[in-house]
Amino acid sequence: MLDENELWVLSFYRTSEISGALFFGNLAKSMKPGSIQRDMTKHFSDEAMHAWHWSSCIEKLGAQALKLTEAYQDQYVAAAGMPVNLMEVLAITQVFEKRVINQYARHSRIPGILQEVKETLATIMADESWHIEWVQAALKEMEKEYGADLIVQTLKRFRQADEEVYQKTIKEHEARVLHLTDRYRAGGKK
Ligand SMILES: [Fe+2]
Ligand SMILES: [Fe+2]
Repeated sequence: MLDENELWVLSFYRTSEISGALFFGNLAKSMKPGSIQRDMTKHFSDEAMHAWHWSSCIEKLGAQALKLTEAYQDQYVAAAGMPVNLMEVLAITQVFEKRVINQYARHSRIPGILQEVKETLATIMADESWHIEWVQAALKEMEKEYGADLIVQTLKRFRQADEEVYQKTIKEHEARVLHLTDRYRAGGKK
């Protein structure tokens, strides 16, 4: 059974995956033909599928996903500024994807984690590592156009923004994940 905090966390993941799918979907729609267009299309379809994996996981655990308005991504543009070109879009994506995979990896290490949640995290993380790979390769390609230094600086700027957003807005999330850890440690897994 899911308790209130765990349902909130899994619902938050679902909402964030939907925001990712919509963001990348819009980009994929407006892109010129080429390998980035192709990979971005696969990327957004993965994020949409992840939202479904969370919906399905929550349902298997006897609940329904909460309707949440906030997603982690929503804070990004405010903190980092709107990406002004494709290189910046890919840089912000790279930073964001690393944050997601780290968060999912941390969650999957919680002692006594529910099997359904562990399996869902593992399924999703396999896709997330491809997301980091293809974006990294595309950024490497862009060194010719933008220069390696500018790309490094841009990544650094978005990493700072990411850290800021993480510290500021994920406190509630953190508190809820820590609560799960305490509950599992206390042997409260049901
Ligand atoms: Fe995802
Ligand atoms: Fe992703």
